[in-house]
Amino acid sequence: MLPNVDFEYELDHIGVATRSLEEGLKFYEALGFKEMHKEEVPTERVRVGMLELGNSSRIELLEPTSEDSPIAKFLDKRGPGIHHICLRVKDIKAVLAHLRTQEGVRLIDEAPKPGAHGCQVAFVHPKSTGGVLLELSQPPQAGA
Ligand code: CO
Repeated sequence: MLPNVDFEYELDHIGVATRSLEEGLKFYEALGFKEMHKEEVPTERVRVGMLELGNSSRIELLEPTSEDSPIAKFLDKRGPGIHHICLRVKDIKAVLAHLRTQEGVRLIDEAPKPGAHGCQVAFVHPKSTGGVLLELSQPPQAGA
């Protein structure tokens, strides 16, 4: 059943696991990308490199900063590649509250946590999404 709610979703970014941002960037440099916004996200134990696509969506390269990073575990198991997709939402708490009422939807994060760029983020388990690790992200309020 389609949700009869007014949430608006936009593609925010696609997360790509890489052993190092420099290694991961190589192909994108070949495509013509020159700049990458780098940031460390301690809650996920990753360094993030954001490539802006110009239509308000991005590619997010993810490099683990420790052995117990979820990205380190992903690289050990699957190697480099697509790790998650991220949908931008206006009110992440409302979306999470909505998902909690949907039967069988397994949230990895019951509450939003700080992500890159000052966003509030939460992950939905791939078992509930058809095999795709899904990140929901609410950008910081303009001027806040
Ligand atoms: Co992400």
